[in-house]
Amino acid sequence: MTKPDWIVIGAGVIGLSAAWALAQDGQRVEVVEASRVGDGTSSKAAGMLLPEVESVHSSQLFPMAAESLALYPAWVSALEGASGQAVGYAATGCLVLAEAKAFSKTWPGLPASLGSDLAAAQSGLAAGLAGCYLPNGAQVDPPLLMAALQTACLKAGVTIREHAAVTEIRRVADRWLGITAGQDRLVANHYLLATGAWTSELTAELDVDLGIFPVKGQMVELKAPVDALSAILFGPGVYLCQKQDGRVLVGATSERVGFDLAVSEQAVADLLTRAAKLLPVVASWPIQRSWAGLRPGREGLPVIEAISQNALAAVGHYRNGILLAPLTAARLCELARQIA
Ligand code: GLY
Repeated sequence: MTKPDWIVIGAGVIGLSAAWALAQDGQRVEVVEASRVGDGTSSKAAGMLLPEVESVHSSQLFPMAAESLALYPAWVSALEGASGQAVGYAATGCLVLAEAKAFSKTWPGLPASLGSDLAAAQSGLAAGLAGCYLPNGAQVDPPLLMAALQTACLKAGVTIREHAAVTEIRRVADRWLGITAGQDRLVANHYLLATGAWTSELTAELDVDLGIFPVKGQMVELKAPVDALSAILFGPGVYLCQKQDGRVLVGATSERVGFDLAVSEQAVADLLTRAAKLLPVVASWPIQRSWAGLRPGREGLPVIEAISQNALAAVGHYRNGILLAPLTAARLCELARQIA
């Protein structure tokens, strides 16, 4: 390959969405990834698209999250068309739940609009709950999404190098000259840092602090009858979302413990207890797997901006990387045109 226009560092949902968008913009793009596509965080996510409940840590985030959600149907349709692969997009809506007497304290700003009529929204709910239905809530299936993004990128001419951790960024003043990824010294005109939870390990050498920290999330997958859930269920300290093949993901812890990926029996038990308090039948569904992922935590909004003359960063999407991918990719393309 001749010298690419862009090297994207990180093949998570942000890196690959950006790479695909840049390639569609006529750019030659190479992606380097320390591990495998999506392995860091994106494929381990639940894939919920829920601006109302997933932007509570930053009031500034809601408009951005809502804007990205609005892009989703067309983005998914383009991605599925380009890749020939389904991503499990489903506009299932979301039922936000809590004990009736604690609802307004648990979910300030959301009305407990469903009380005695909750049973019509989801059968089998525990007694004593109140709920609010968010009709615009949706979801994708993250491993399918990442597989489709990988295919779409490859079909658009993007090169993806896996197992190529970046160990060096060569610079002169404010200009990046090249990187070392795995055994190779690579050079491009421009660079994009999409390194998720691992960003600070790389930026430490650059005298740039983007304020990213890993936030561990442990998750359990249950085998449930297809269509057991009529919506995403979101309660205090737990959510349940069902994928089209019947898998129910129960997540997730939120822990500031560095780069630890261990799954603890206690965390799994706590998640299942919380889930069963919403939907008792969960206790009878067999556990298939459990895992931990690392969210790219950041106070406030994600960083989507230039960090040098010829390098952009798109990091710090915290709980909403999947949701914010279409908007982030569009904004990066605008920035890319400005610095081209
Ligand atoms: N967005 C779901 C989570 O971060 O657990």
